[in-house]
Amino acid sequence: MNVLIIGSGGREHALAWKIAQSALVETVYAAPGNPGVARLAKGACVPLGVKDVPALKDFIVEKNIGLTVVGPEDPLAEGIVDTLEAAGHKVFGPCAAAARLEASKAFAKAFMARHGIPTAAYGEFDEPESAIAYIRTQGAPIVVKADGLAAGKGVTVAHDVETAIHAVEEAMRIRVFGEAGAKVVVEEFLAGEEASILAFCDGKTVVPMPSSQDHKAAYDGDQGPNTGGMGAYSPAPVVTPELQERILNEVLNPCVAGMAAEGAPYKGILYAGLMITSAGPKVVEFNVRFGDPETQVVVPRMMNDIVPVFLACCDGTLDQLAIEYDECPCVTVVMASGGYPKDYAKGKLITGIDDAETDADVMVFHAGTKLDGERLLTNGGRVLNVTARGTSLAETIQRAYAAVRKIHFEHAHCRNDIGHRALARSQR
Ligand code: AMP
Ligand code: GLY
Repeated sequence: MNVLIIGSGGREHALAWKIAQSALVETVYAAPGNPGVARLAKGACVPLGVKDVPALKDFIVEKNIGLTVVGPEDPLAEGIVDTLEAAGHKVFGPCAAAARLEASKAFAKAFMARHGIPTAAYGEFDEPESAIAYIRTQGAPIVVKADGLAAGKGVTVAHDVETAIHAVEEAMRIRVFGEAGAKVVVEEFLAGEEASILAFCDGKTVVPMPSSQDHKAAYDGDQGPNTGGMGAYSPAPVVTPELQERILNEVLNPCVAGMAAEGAPYKGILYAGLMITSAGPKVVEFNVRFGDPETQVVVPRMMNDIVPVFLACCDGTLDQLAIEYDECPCVTVVMASGGYPKDYAKGKLITGIDDAETDADVMVFHAGTKLDGERLLTNGGRVLNVTARGTSLAETIQRAYAAVRKIHFEHAHCRNDIGHRALARSQR
C-alpha cells in the first residue's frame, strides 16, 4: 500500500518514520514533507501544499494511495477529510464538524459544559466591552483565548488585569489574529502541572496512548515567551495510572460519546491538553491531531505496526486491536534557530546528524530544514527534534543531549532542562 502524510514538520517526519516500518507499506509520500522524510528508505516528498485539496486528490488517485494521514489542524478545520472521503478515499483524521473541538474554543467550552467534561470556568464574548467587564469582575490571574485557530499564538495567560484587557484589545479590536479573534473566551486560570494525552478514536472507541509532557516556554526553567514546544518526554509521571483511568472516563470517553450523540462522530487523534489540578484533571484544550513535539516521543514507543491502527480508526474496528508500548522512556530536544520564537535567520548549514544517529536509539526528526544540493540548511524556527530512547528517564535525557552536542548550526538554541519536572519528581 502507498500512504500519504499531509504536513512538513517533525511530527510528520516521526509519523513517516513509523509508517515506513510497516510491512504493508510500499512508499510513504509526504506533502510537502521535508528532507528527513525524503531520506527514509521508503520515503518520498511531493511539493503540494497542505490545503491544496484538488491537487492532493489527484495525487491520491495517481499514486493509488490507500491511506492518507493529515498532520496539521488547518486542513482538518477546512474539511479536507470530508472532501477526500466523499471522493471515496480512506483518510485518518476528523471531519470538519468534529475538528471544531480545536477550531473553535467557544464550541469546545460549550461542548464540555454540555457533557460534564471538567475544564476551567469561562465566559464567551462577541464584544470587547463585555469581555473587559468580565475580566474586571473576575480579577487576575486569568486567561484570554482567541476563539479561532491562531497558529498556537491566540492564548494569553495574564497575571494582571491590564495584560488581560490588552489581550482582548489586540484580539478583538486590532484583530492581530484576524477573524480568529472576532470572539474570545475568557477563562479561569488553572494551577497545576500540564500533560498531554493523545488517543486513537474510531467514532465510538477510544484508545489512549501513553502520557507525555511538552515544554512550551522558550528558555530553561519555563522562562521566556511561548513557543510551539521546545521538547517533550513520555511517559509523564504526573499522570499516574489512576489519573490515566480518570482521564479516559471523565474526559476522553465522554468527549467521543458526546460528539457521536451530536452527529459529528470523532475519528482520528483526539489530543487532550490537561492541567493536573488539586481537584483532578481538567481540560486546557482539545486538539484534533497529533501533538508536535509529543508525537516524536509517543510514537517511537509504540510496538505495533501503526498502519493497521490507522485503518481500524477509519473502519470503526478499533475495539478489535491491542496496542502495546515499550516501557522505555523517550525524550526529544528541539534544536531551534537563535532568536526563535521571535525573528531568526534561515539558511544556516547543519552538520553532524549522521554522527548523532550512530546511536541506534537516536532519531533526528526534521522540523525546519531544506536541501540546497547536498547541503542541509535550517529553514524554520524549530529546526530539528533530537530524539532518544533509553532505559531510565535520566539516562534517556543524557542520551538525547549527547546527540544534540554532535549537531551544529550557527546560533542553534535548545533548552537544557527537558524532563526537569519528571526528574524532580523521581528525586523527591
Ligand atoms: P492552549 O493553546 O489553549 O493550549 O493554551 C496555551 C497554553 O496556555 C497552555 O499550554 C497552558 O500552558 C496555558 N493555558 C491555557 N489555558 C490555561 C488555563 N485556563 N490556566 C492556566 N494556563 C492555561
Ligand atoms: N505541543 C502542542 C501542540 O501540538 O499543540
